[in-house]
Amino acid sequence: APAADYQAEDATLSQANVATNHTGYTGTGFVDYVNITGGYVEWTVTSATAGASAVTLRYANGTTVNRPMDISVNGNLVAGDLAFGGTGSWDTWQSATVNANLAAGSNRIRATATTDNGGPNVDRLSV
Ligand code: GCU
Ligand code: CA
Repeated sequence: APAADYQAEDATLSQANVATNHTGYTGTGFVDYVNITGGYVEWTVTSATAGASAVTLRYANGTTVNRPMDISVNGNLVAGDLAFGGTGSWDTWQSATVNANLAAGSNRIRATATTDNGGPNVDRLSV
């Protein structure tokens, strides 16, 4: 099936806030993580079938310092400290993709900041 988009601003947020103060986002905004460890965005994603799927995050990082995040699915870590490097500016968005096993039906996909810098700005998830 073609990838479906899930906006970060519509997801469940912890230590992260919806923002619109940079350009180039899709939907109605993006998510700005608080600059601490442990903030997360969690999406609920429905999959018709069980199995491996490409999971893509669209992000911006206007610093030159990596903002790694743990990516988990239904509480299982699928990518620890996935790199979200500098994108050149907060208005410049790039994609990071991991392969993840999804269950049939509802899945919780969470991106958790693992450094005191917090996560990058996140626009959406595509699955
Ligand atoms: C700036 C920028 C934010 C970003 C923040 C950060 O304040 O405007 O969009 O999230 O830096 O460093 O996390
Ligand atoms: Ca931030």
